[in-house]
Amino acid sequence: MHLHKLEKWWLILGVSALIIFLIVLGFGAFYMGTHPQSHGLTIDPNNVEANEAFQQENLGLTKVDEDHYIVNVVASAFNYDLGVDEDGNSVSHIKIPKGASVLFQVVTTDVIHGFNIAGTNVNMMVEPGYVSSMEVQMNNVGEFTLLCNEYCGVGHHMMFTTVEVYE
Ligand code: CUA
Repeated sequence: MHLHKLEKWWLILGVSALIIFLIVLGFGAFYMGTHPQSHGLTIDPNNVEANEAFQQENLGLTKVDEDHYIVNVVASAFNYDLGVDEDGNSVSHIKIPKGASVLFQVVTTDVIHGFNIAGTNVNMMVEPGYVSSMEVQMNNVGEFTLLCNEYCGVGHHMMFTTVEVYE
């Protein structure tokens, strides 16, 4: 079979690009620990409170023990519901001690939202009907922005809050 020289180069370019992409993907998945959130658990988006974790009083940060925390979140356009504080105000900032293991459990009551804590490995898609969950160890101190990275409507850019990891 005769291949034109340029056609050969084009094939080499295409196959090399494919191999490079697979290496990048493999590096992210196996070395950097990036992986899709669990999608095993389903939930009725019109009645998320049927799951105890997403009842109003269980939202936000809960301490399990010295170094284990759970953060339950109900996302909706254009807000992350992290529960209320003692004064009844909506929580918009959570504080986690350095090195703690945190289980994030997130659901949406309307459209698809993102759940990305910029600068960490936490980056989930939150789809109606599913509980997106991910456990991570917060090892870097600082204030991180938790934001929505799936376009969800006119208020998309206002959908963010902050997560602080302290020493
Ligand atoms: Cu929620 Cu974009």
